[in-house]
Amino acid sequence: MKLLVTGGAGFIGSAVVRLAVARGHEVVNLDALTYAACEANVAPVAGSNLYSFEKADIRDRAALDRIFATHRPDAVMHLAAESHVDLAGIVAVIACLRCAPSWGGSGRVPA
Ligand SMILES: NC(=O)c1ccc[n+]([C@@H]2O[C@H](COP(=O)([O-])OP(=O)(O)OC[C@H]3O[C@@H](n4cnc5c(N)ncnc54)[C@H](O)[C@@H]3O)[C@@H](O)[C@H]2O)c1
Repeated sequence: MKLLVTGGAGFIGSAVVRLAVARGHEVVNLDALTYAACEANVAPVAGSNLYSFEKADIRDRAALDRIFATHRPDAVMHLAAESHVDLAGIVAVIACLRCAPSWGGSGRVPA
């Protein structure tokens, strides 16, 4: 499976990235590398041919379109957030879901 992880250089996302690669999945790490990111977190998998990195902001629709068109992930784990700002994460989730039809998803946003 090809998995796209947003926030894959963060605390939770990087653990997901390392575990997924260790289990043989292809992983695309999409992260803006804010102050919260720690690239050392993904150093153990950085040399793997299963791993790729895209520096992008999840609010940048054009960048997301390019990244999804390039990598065609089977699944997305959305872990990019300022973890202390809950609303920011919710807004980003809704933005991703609204974009989903052009990536092949349903685009349905839960009420
Ligand atoms: N850390 C915990 O114990 C914990 C527990 C439960 C839930 N969560 C949730 O998990 C998610 C991730 O938490 P975390 O602790 O790993 O956060 P974190 O702050 O360690 O990492 C967030 C990552 O997201 C990236 N990021 C931030 N804004 C971005 C943007 N606009 N575009 C692209 N990348 C961006 C940062 O560069 C960073 O690498 C959050 O939604 C948080 O609420 C965390």
